[in-house]
Amino acid sequence: MTLQRAPEEVAAGSAAAISLRGVVKRFGDFTAVDGLDLEVPSGVCLGLLGPNGAGKSTTMKMLTAQALPTEGTIEVLGFPVPRESKRARAAMGVVPQQDNLDEELTARENLEVFAHLYRVPRKERRRAVDDALAIAHLTGRQRTKVDDLSGGMRRRLLIARGLVHRPRLVLLDEPTVGLDPQVRAELWGLIDGLRAQGTTVLMSTHYIEEAERLADECALMSHGKVIARGTPAELVAEYAGERVVEHYGPPDRLAEVERLARAAGLPTRRTGPSVSVLKAETIARRWRTGWARTAWDVRPIWKTCSWC
Ligand SMILES: Nc1ncnc2c1ncn2[C@@H]1O[C@H](COP(=O)(O)OP(=O)(O)OP(=O)(O)O)[C@@H](O)[C@H]1O
Ligand SMILES: [Mg+2]
Repeated sequence: MTLQRAPEEVAAGSAAAISLRGVVKRFGDFTAVDGLDLEVPSGVCLGLLGPNGAGKSTTMKMLTAQALPTEGTIEVLGFPVPRESKRARAAMGVVPQQDNLDEELTARENLEVFAHLYRVPRKERRRAVDDALAIAHLTGRQRTKVDDLSGGMRRRLLIARGLVHRPRLVLLDEPTVGLDPQVRAELWGLIDGLRAQGTTVLMSTHYIEEAERLADECALMSHGKVIARGTPAELVAEYAGERVVEHYGPPDRLAEVERLARAAGLPTRRTGPSVSVLKAETIARRWRTGWARTAWDVRPIWKTCSWC
């Protein structure tokens, strides 16, 4: 099941569906978005990658005028935001990171409220809600109160709600977080369908495999700025490499691995009790070609690396 849009709607739209120039967002003394320049061409699926706190959700909120920029200019579907945000919002579907469904209403009622708010013509409303329920595989649970749906069902309903008015642009903030692999794969199929119809998609995600599967291009955000942009394959090759070796151990051991990796020019990433050494495929190459000055340059990293 896909949402059909009229061809002239697909054709409509300027070169860039989203344009942010020099955008800054401060919360008091803290700068969450720091001079962000980002363009998303029409019809493209752009993956927004970056660590916790990079500013991805804040950027999305500024596109919908839920958050106001401190500086800079924003255009969405040709409308300046926040000045004409109502018109932009009317053609935009938003799936927020935080679930904000109405728990007292049923799944169907949640969609009906949105179809009404987004001015889906009365005659088409029932069909639009039926289609959205089918997309979310919730037809059989349409009379269930949101409070009684599982976490995965709520996530699916949240996505369906963002699509009920057949938007030209969809903002998905970590759309598949917490979903089981099967539902995630179904949602990937759904996002594929949107792209095939020419819908522009801006999607934040922590899952590189999700970006590789769905995104035409990715922008890597860090500290409120885009620090790299390219196809998923280009970014993986440049920033992560083909292999990642993960080390677990006490903090002093992890610090030692980080120090050695840095000295060998390998990027690392801390993830709670572990440290990941990126671009690990180069370790064996360096070792074989004598690039490493001594075995101890790479051995502590290399020794847990079974495939070297
Ligand atoms: N309303 C707010 N008041 C103060 N600080 C905020 C507010 N909203 C966001 N921030 C801060 O701005 C920074 C960016 O937050 P944001 O939610 O945009 O990050 P993110 O990239 O979406 O992270 P995540 O991957 O964890 O979702 C964080 O340090 C966050 O604490
Ligand atoms: Mg976020």
